[in-house]
Amino acid sequence: MSAAILNGNLIRDQIYSELRAEIAALLAAGVRPGLAAVQVGDNPASKLYVSSKIAACGKLGLASFHITPAASSTTTELLAVVNELNRREDVDGILVQMPLPAHVDPKKILDAVNPAKDVDGFHPLNVGRLVAGRPSFVPCTPAGVMEILRRSGITMEGANAVVMGRSDIVGKPMAMLLLHANATVTVCHSKTKNLAEVARRADIVVAAMGRAAMVTADYICPGATVIDVGQNVVTDAAEAMRIFANFPDKMAAFHAKGSVLVGDVHPDVAHIAGAITPVPGGVGPLTIAMLMSNTVKAARLRRGSGTAWAAQHVARS
Ligand code: GUN
Repeated sequence: MSAAILNGNLIRDQIYSELRAEIAALLAAGVRPGLAAVQVGDNPASKLYVSSKIAACGKLGLASFHITPAASSTTTELLAVVNELNRREDVDGILVQMPLPAHVDPKKILDAVNPAKDVDGFHPLNVGRLVAGRPSFVPCTPAGVMEILRRSGITMEGANAVVMGRSDIVGKPMAMLLLHANATVTVCHSKTKNLAEVARRADIVVAAMGRAAMVTADYICPGATVIDVGQNVVTDAAEAMRIFANFPDKMAAFHAKGSVLVGDVHPDVAHIAGAITPVPGGVGPLTIAMLMSNTVKAARLRRGSGTAWAAQHVARS
């Protein structure tokens, strides 16, 4: 038996069609939601991610502002960039693409973003609101995973969920969201003992360790739901062959391009899981969809009919 494939592109399209109605209402009220993406230097992966985010804005009719400070920019210079975006009326959402160059203090930069424009959900105020189970901007990748689970009818209440990875961007917020959905949550990481044994107890596995094809079939209880957050670029031919020995199409693509995109989950897991997200075309499209959703929400809260939440946070920052 093969797992059901949880198609992220279809779920993204559903979310976009819901967002289009909301955007049309804002445009009719004279508000065009705007996203500013700050990309420091020219890390190729960051460039690609930011250009996909800007393209999504164009597709939905949102305004976008691509800000590209030099890699040599100091923390002080970047704080000035963020402060200017905080002030701008036409900017509803601000994202600073991570990672930043090593000489820049990322905490200072993230703390400077107005929490009411923090569409990545990385500001400590929004992190705290998420932990407390109060409305906030939720980091886009774990928010996207929740959309996949909900819209695919996967039961979370009472489920054993294992989150592999404890990053601030994915693992930690993912654990909170699953907990709020009444799952019993275990967070594993590189120092966890007997990782495969712990993972095998899970009804839902979220793999977010950043290690190509690390989660093999022996980690998975038959029938479990497996969400693969990994986006690893494999350039080593022997490693590509280890992963894709039974997938001639993937190996042909590797030989043509010199690299192949691999999730954290080994492709053989599809034979044992009940449902699984592919890479590419699983979680990835949802990350951008949730960024769009958060930007529209930011515009609505800040410039739409107005709420106590927005008024408080705009006034304070
Ligand atoms: N780097 C990797 N993932 C993300 C993300 O979701 N947002 C930002 N700003 N940077 C990232």
